[in-house]
Amino acid sequence: MDVFVIEGGRKLSGSLRVNGSKNAALPLLAATLLTDAPVTLRDVPELSDIFNMLRLLGELGVENERDGTTIRLQGVDETEVHARYDIVRTMRASICVLGPMLARRGTARVSMPGGCAIGQRPVDLHLRGLEALGARIELEGGDIVARVPQSGRLIGDTVFLGGPFGSTVLGTANVMSAATLAEGTTVIECAACEPEIVDLADMLISMGARIRGAGSPRITIEGVESLGGTDHTVIPDRIEAGTYMCAAAATGSTIELTNCPLDAMMSPIDRLEAIGVHIDPTDYPRGVAADNPMRRTCTISAPEPLRSVQITTQPHPGFPTDLQAQFMAMLCLAQGNSVITEKIFPERFLHVAELTRMGAQVHRHGTTAVISGVSKLTGAPVMASDLRASAGLVIAAMAAEGTTVVNRVYHIDRGYEKLEERLCSVGASITRMSESELSEQGVNALGG
Ligand code: EPZ
Repeated sequence: MDVFVIEGGRKLSGSLRVNGSKNAALPLLAATLLTDAPVTLRDVPELSDIFNMLRLLGELGVENERDGTTIRLQGVDETEVHARYDIVRTMRASICVLGPMLARRGTARVSMPGGCAIGQRPVDLHLRGLEALGARIELEGGDIVARVPQSGRLIGDTVFLGGPFGSTVLGTANVMSAATLAEGTTVIECAACEPEIVDLADMLISMGARIRGAGSPRITIEGVESLGGTDHTVIPDRIEAGTYMCAAAATGSTIELTNCPLDAMMSPIDRLEAIGVHIDPTDYPRGVAADNPMRRTCTISAPEPLRSVQITTQPHPGFPTDLQAQFMAMLCLAQGNSVITEKIFPERFLHVAELTRMGAQVHRHGTTAVISGVSKLTGAPVMASDLRASAGLVIAAMAAEGTTVVNRVYHIDRGYEKLEERLCSVGASITRMSESELSEQGVNALGG
């Protein structure tokens, strides 16, 4: 297993281009199951989750040719309908293949995803949505087995996708994708409004789907007989962009971001401005509409000291849970007490104990954490637990005094393409090494 050895206290400067979004790309890739025509996807980030999805699609008869971040996919064999446990257990987002495969092939068998480090993650809303379209669903040997009705096609209906924590992003992706090939009209109420859903709808529309309202809580889909191919560029990753913003703020630096989806980042930008961070678009003068508000150039600058704030995670356009850990890491160094309330994944606080090892003052009470700012963090061996928690630890380490060893960085590789190389290109000091290389150098990886 690899670790990151991070020397803290370096200022950042320079420019970073934001990559294509992982969470947009995964359902887009799964949607290629809806057609046997060629689909080209551009700006797909090179990440282990993406490679796992390509492996799963390969097992399901969708071949791919990859040229860097451009992937050409085509379904060549539609007989296999089983997404096996071996792959699904490595990546929960495998559930995205359920709706497309069911709609196109008439049957889908997908291993039931288990829990993960950020808590219980049920799929009841996905199943309820597909059942509302007439699917017959059973659980067999740990697999979800879904079949279309006797007529051979799903049937459009009104589907309510609200749960105890709001809507479901991948559930909306599953039901919307499946409904494109259903007979009649489907209305999804309480649909997820995330930009990744809008990107999926845009791609499906370019394949011939009839979809209105994506990005709002009501999406209407008029089913069609079949979908064709397309050439689609994935939207930039708002969570990657937000992570770089926090890294700049925590280290008191100024950096430029290009290909930055500012239009999808109103809530994190609002909180960053309250903290005292300046985010200045530099591509168009103030008051002039950008050609593409999802691909902006901006400068992030952070005069010290940072101010404390209150943050509550919510479904989009509220504050994203996927930036909670990174903001917490930054707020460890803000003046005063900050309060973070997690309303999407109530257990998503595994980074708290690790930040505390670095000198942070964080007290968790249920779904709320109170962060009392300290004047400095100090390097320590810490353990990455999930993707975003790990990104938070990297930010804390970059801002800390001394050396931090972040263990288990495979979590980071799931969602950040070459994070260490990119941050080093703007002045960070992060070295990737194996645990054995580390012990040869006499650095304690596991912290004892
Ligand atoms: C997506 O997961 C993202 N994953 C997550 O990003 C992200 O944290 C999450 O949306 C919320 O924004 C991908 O896009 C691949 P949900 P998803 O269904 O769709 C509950 C990352 O770090 N719920 O919107 O699986 C659920 O437990 C990852 O990149 C049900 O109760 O999340 C949660 O409390 C982690 N029943 C809430 O809804 C269901 O059937 C939102 O989950 C489904 C979900």
